Amino acid sequence: MTANELRTKYIEFFVLRDHVEISGQSLIPENDPTVLFTTAGMHPLVPYILGEPHPAGQRLVNYQKCIRTGDIEDVGDSSHLTFFEMLGNWSLGDYFKEEAIRMSFEFLTASRWLGISPHKLSVTVFAGDQDVPPDHESAAVWKALGIPESRIYYLPRSDNWWGPAGATGPCGPDSEMFIDTGIAGTSASRPGVSDGKYMEVWNDVFMQYNKKADGTFVPLERTCVDTGMGIERTIAILQGRTSVYETEVFTPIIARIEELTGARYGPDEDTNRSIRIVCDHVRTATFILGDEKGVSPSNVGQGYILRRLIRRAVRHGRKLGLSREFLSDPAQIVIDMYQQPHPVLRDNRDRVLEEMRSEEERFGTTLQKGEHEFEKLLPNLMRNPERTIPGRLAFRLYDTFGFPLEITEELAAEHGMKVDRDGFEEAFRKHQQKSKLDSNQTFKGGLADHSDMTTRLHTATHLLHKALREVLGDHVAQKGSNITQERLRFDFSHPEKMSSEQLQQVEEIVNEQIERDLPVTVSTMRLDQARDAGAMALFGSKYDEIVKVYSIGGYSREVCGGPHVERTAQLGRFRIVKEQSSSQGVRRIKAVLESGG
Ligand code: ALA
Repeated sequence: MTANELRTKYIEFFVLRDHVEISGQSLIPENDPTVLFTTAGMHPLVPYILGEPHPAGQRLVNYQKCIRTGDIEDVGDSSHLTFFEMLGNWSLGDYFKEEAIRMSFEFLTASRWLGISPHKLSVTVFAGDQDVPPDHESAAVWKALGIPESRIYYLPRSDNWWGPAGATGPCGPDSEMFIDTGIAGTSASRPGVSDGKYMEVWNDVFMQYNKKADGTFVPLERTCVDTGMGIERTIAILQGRTSVYETEVFTPIIARIEELTGARYGPDEDTNRSIRIVCDHVRTATFILGDEKGVSPSNVGQGYILRRLIRRAVRHGRKLGLSREFLSDPAQIVIDMYQQPHPVLRDNRDRVLEEMRSEEERFGTTLQKGEHEFEKLLPNLMRNPERTIPGRLAFRLYDTFGFPLEITEELAAEHGMKVDRDGFEEAFRKHQQKSKLDSNQTFKGGLADHSDMTTRLHTATHLLHKALREVLGDHVAQKGSNITQERLRFDFSHPEKMSSEQLQQVEEIVNEQIERDLPVTVSTMRLDQARDAGAMALFGSKYDEIVKVYSIGGYSREVCGGPHVERTAQLGRFRIVKEQSSSQGVRRIKAVLESGG
């Protein structure tokens, strides 16, 4: 069974059972500042699980593109992936445990569907704890379906409880389904122990609670079912493969990399690892760039994950002997392979390939120099008994050669060393402070005489930033800002020239906020709290660092040092005077404030 067949069958099975298909949500979650990417099929459904009525009804089914970057450093082994597709069916206050389990069993075992022998099936249910009783109800359904007690495992919260990646949201006990691969395993073998014997194929989550920020569990008004089946892993098991990389989802990409490099997948574990990293990272980067809310490589948020993926793939490409730009080659294979189930990739093909090429080019030119620099320092570093790369050196590689910290860590690990992460962050902060000082000094004359105007322009910059995101999309991220007594200058990620309508819209939105005479307020909080509150923030600061967050009415919220005006009506009239390119994928706006009226 191929990925395409599995996807089609799954949707068909549930549509025949009155589910409505809702596939095709973005990888970038909406209104959820707790995570950067959609991490599960249920992610876009959180508001509906919490009680909002879904326009498509109470029985839903989808396939969803997902990204989990928590284990990004583990990618390279035979099982970890950063991107995967998840199949799922939902009951929003409709069926609960019994019907969900019965449908799962039928889809897994009936010959018309997956046709897995019920003898190979083991399942787990929640064992219960002080807050929630054991899930005998699910166990009884499995028993009635013919699964013997010896293959029904009661496991604790760490195994059989599910909530979304953010700290809060809907959650509940789950029941997981495992296939016995026939591999010998170990004496500790049981579902949930990853020794290769039992492989999980599906998870039925019974959503009963909403976990609040204060750690309490509030029962949901109506119970819901959320299920998840990872396509890549499931087809690997159904095809009897020991690795997802041996399925048709990856073999064409691997073949192409072999062709380009002359390397061979199989005999040498270092080579395999590099090939897998390139495969995984190119696939994920292609989906991020090709998303409907496409993000560009940058130094913050999603853009930074994207940058890390591309740069790490480039480095492993070089390790495999590729000295020229190559990433758009496997990226095209990914687009061709997935454009039918994910037409957005076809629509964004040119943008994906263009952005991939330019990021590769940007990094490719300094990668070698950076590695060379690292090699030069290596003998000295090796003499350090703690085998630790100082933070300021890691920062220099970041600042001068564009090495994401994780690449330096990987290089270090290849020589049995680690990096002083705290030292890196310290160096990063010092650098930020210094650039702030430098720019203040440059504009000192202006600031002394015209501090009122620069303060107003500063507030206008926040409004502009927010308005740009509204008009152009959430991929807009600040790339630079510079204020003189005459004008503001704002650089931001956006792949193309703005139209005159867009510019006019942005101008109107900013002026509207000015006319509303919104109050500007400031509060201090920890950076992680600021992020949770949806404030825009810069990468590189410590999570527990105390920051100032400026809010302009309910309209904009940004981590910022200030100063700002007290009310927006003080700004006068906002006018954009110029929109131009600043660098690849970055636009620049110059704007002024004129006296009100
Ligand atoms: N949301 C559940 C999971 O991701 C089904 O496993």
